[in-house]
Amino acid sequence: MIQIERVPTGIRGLDPLFEGGFPKGRSILVTGEPGTGKTIFSLQFLVEGLARGEKGIYVAADEGPMDILEQAASLGWDLEKHIETKELAILNAGTYLSSLPGAGKDRHIDVHKAIGDLAAFANRLEAKRLVLDPAGPFVLIRDTTTRIQDQTRLLIKLLRTTMPTTNILTSYAVPRTGERSMHGVEEYLVAGAIVLEMIWKEGQLARSLVIEKMRCTNVKPAQYDFDIVKERGIVFQPIP
Ligand SMILES: Nc1ncnc2c1ncn2[C@@H]1O[C@H](COP(=O)(O)OP(=O)(O)OP(=O)(O)O)[C@@H](O)[C@H]1O
Ligand SMILES: [Mg+2]
Repeated sequence: MIQIERVPTGIRGLDPLFEGGFPKGRSILVTGEPGTGKTIFSLQFLVEGLARGEKGIYVAADEGPMDILEQAASLGWDLEKHIETKELAILNAGTYLSSLPGAGKDRHIDVHKAIGDLAAFANRLEAKRLVLDPAGPFVLIRDTTTRIQDQTRLLIKLLRTTMPTTNILTSYAVPRTGERSMHGVEEYLVAGAIVLEMIWKEGQLARSLVIEKMRCTNVKPAQYDFDIVKERGIVFQPIP
């Protein structure tokens, strides 16, 4: 019988909630408003991979590689040494995507070309984990919603068929039950979807996480509290 391999996230307390980790080789969407922890979640996923000898690629769209290194360092993660040993690559999506043909004034991204180049790099590196933070620029298109969905579907398909990696795609979201942003990634297209948010709890804002879906996985619908802690990253409460 087919057994789905699991890819541990590195977030203590989270993996047991979905049978040990993300389904291997699939794309997981992490959505949340600014500051909810998408980047830290993604970095922790890569740091866990590095600790297991799995190479990783982080494609940053909103921040430069230096910002990412600083963010990681503030959490006690030294990524520079992994870049030097070529176990980790941090790419700037802006520079990368704008160098592609067709990325001029109509800002249309050729997903085939973008993912083709990335896949060639990922295969050369033998990367096991990939983060697109956020994934929106890869489906950037000035057209109708239907076409964005087509572009997104193509992105997910190409990631699945050409990449040797398990992927985190991040996306902005407005508060729960609201619509995703125009350049967001549709939840129904991905294998898993995790929502990070801030909720009011006993008169205070608290961080919370909901696993909205995880294909092939028995997940209990629930809202989980977490903290972002210096030197540790994302920590589920109560702190184990
Ligand atoms: N070293 C640290 N120690 C504790 N908390 C931190 C640390 N670094 C960042 N944080 C917390 O994490 C939050 C930012 O998380 P993160 O950058 O992952 O959010 P994001 O969802 O990626 O935001 P954006 O959408 O703006 O990119 C900060 O606002 C801060 O509250
Ligand atoms: Mg971020």
